[in-house]
Amino acid sequence: MPTDDTIRTAVRTRYAGLALSGQSCCGPGSAGGAGYAPEDLAGLPEEAVMGLGCGTPVALAGITEGETVLDLGSGGGIDVLLAARRTGPSGRVIGVDMTAEMLQRAEANAVRAGIDHAEFRLGLIEDLPVESATVDVVISNCVVNLSPDKPAVFAEVARVLRPGGRLVVSDIVRTVPGTGSTDPDGWASCVDGALHADDYLAAIAAAGLGGVEVLRRDGEGSHVSITVRAVKP
Ligand SMILES: C[S@@+](CC[C@H](N)C(=O)[O-])C[C@H]1O[C@@H](n2cnc3c(N)ncnc32)[C@H](O)[C@@H]1O
Repeated sequence: MPTDDTIRTAVRTRYAGLALSGQSCCGPGSAGGAGYAPEDLAGLPEEAVMGLGCGTPVALAGITEGETVLDLGSGGGIDVLLAARRTGPSGRVIGVDMTAEMLQRAEANAVRAGIDHAEFRLGLIEDLPVESATVDVVISNCVVNLSPDKPAVFAEVARVLRPGGRLVVSDIVRTVPGTGSTDPDGWASCVDGALHADDYLAAIAAAGLGGVEVLRRDGEGSHVSITVRAVKP
């Protein structure tokens, strides 16, 4: 098992490169493949549509005007911008990412999109730079699998959510037992760090979130994408 620092360095290196090159990790058209509706993609800066997600948490989160939304691992900002459309200017959206190059790309995209009620913060999703009990909706798209400390991520989600607030997270999970890989690049590719689906749901419940349910499941084989909803009591 690689150390936490080794994993984070491999992940940062991978996503800094993608932020600067603008390449997708998953090939052309993958943003559509993740399930984004054409009307959602319409009008977004093309630099925000990087094909790095594995679901559409914003479409399933029921975000309403005035809400405060937090996106864990916001990348080039696609879900922050989509959430900001739904909250309107009376709400706000915060994206957190540990890769400075991704934050710069996301900030430029918010300017291009004319969104000024979104902000991007440098930080770890295991130690969020966000005040406790201030967030209505936490979203995340294909990020938690990259974390070397998933219990810490879900504990932070529980800390920042207001009572009654919700988590809607899309992620890659295993359908077969893990291999215990020691390859940091395998983690950075959203493969080796993925938990078994049962363990993923159990980790969310262990953080104190209730009503854990799988809203959507896509793909087949050893790794699939799921979107999970849970609520802070
Ligand atoms: C696969 S990309 C997904 C980006 C975005 N959510 C999307 O759907 O386009 C993963 C992003 O999560 C960030 N990330 C990975 N692990 C992180 C961690 N532990 N803390 C903060 N950000 C992290 C990476 O820097 C990268 O921008």
